Amino acid sequence: MTSYKELGLVNTRDMFAKAVKGGYAIGAFNFNNMEQMQAIVQACVETKSPVILQVSRGARDYANINLLRNMARGVVEYAHELGCDIPIVLHLDHGDSFETCKDCIDNGFSSVMIDGSSLPYDENVALTKKVVEYAHQYDVTVEGELGVLAGIEDEVSSAVSHYTKPEEVEDFVSKTGVDSLAISVGTSHGAYKFTPEQCTRNAEGILVPPELRFDILAEVEKRLPGFPIVLHGSSSVPQEYVKMINEFGGKLKDSVGIPEDQLRKAAASAVCKINIDSDGRLAMTGTIRKVLAEKPSEFDPRKYLGPAREALKKMYMHKNIDVLGSAGHALD
Ligand code: G3H
Ligand code: 13P
Ligand code: ZN
Repeated sequence: MTSYKELGLVNTRDMFAKAVKGGYAIGAFNFNNMEQMQAIVQACVETKSPVILQVSRGARDYANINLLRNMARGVVEYAHELGCDIPIVLHLDHGDSFETCKDCIDNGFSSVMIDGSSLPYDENVALTKKVVEYAHQYDVTVEGELGVLAGIEDEVSSAVSHYTKPEEVEDFVSKTGVDSLAISVGTSHGAYKFTPEQCTRNAEGILVPPELRFDILAEVEKRLPGFPIVLHGSSSVPQEYVKMINEFGGKLKDSVGIPEDQLRKAAASAVCKINIDSDGRLAMTGTIRKVLAEKPSEFDPRKYLGPAREALKKMYMHKNIDVLGSAGHALD
């Protein structure tokens, strides 16, 4: 058993309390490899932002849990070396079973999500409660989920979303003891969130998708005052990188993501964790495709992974400063 405390990590409790009070959200950025992890830490140190390093079940299998635990230790030391001891959480994204959550808790994760959102309500309550009881013995915080997002939720996919029912949230939180709650208000996973046909054009000619269900969010907030709310599926699908991928041999379909101003509005409310994965994938893939297309004789991985890391860093800095509002809050 390795406690996250030995690794220098923190759980989400204080971080979320400060974010809810301060009207900003913490970036929960998914990573699978060293360059993504470096980019996230460099960006968050530079903007002085607290951060949640997020590992999906797929990423855990891809990277290996022993390496991840030691990378997390390294991340804390790396942030210190870069000049700011930002608070860092290592979080399991979309845990699907008690066993997966336990394994992560035993291996130095400071926060886990148990995603019982596709189960019948009572089963979701029972599973989430079991994870909370184990996690809290080690001061690990737990995220639960009510409502289903469209798209792929880490191997669980749903064609349609089911918005969170506000009338269930108080009962769920009090019965399970969760520390935060992911809700479904119109976001979805992956790069294909809205087709252009589902959008309208604003005065500047930019495609705007249907607005998130801020009415549901407000009702949840009213029923759970000050309680930390989480938004999954919050990539904005930067058109710059979609174009770059397609210009250099990719074949992505047209798609529109969650507008940044809507995320900023959500971050000012009880939403204190915003999950972003796909935007990082787009930035990384676009940059790598561009370098390889422009320098076809290049075969040193550092020559394309290095620029990809720079693009990621720039993107995460932009998220922290302009979207989440977390910049400058690392030492609150
Ligand atoms: O919510 C899903 C995340 O984007 C993780 O995706 O299972 O492909 O690592 P993944
Ligand atoms: P995106 O696919 O919108 O980046 O969402 C990521 C996510 O919710 C991870 O849990
Ligand atoms: Zn998710």
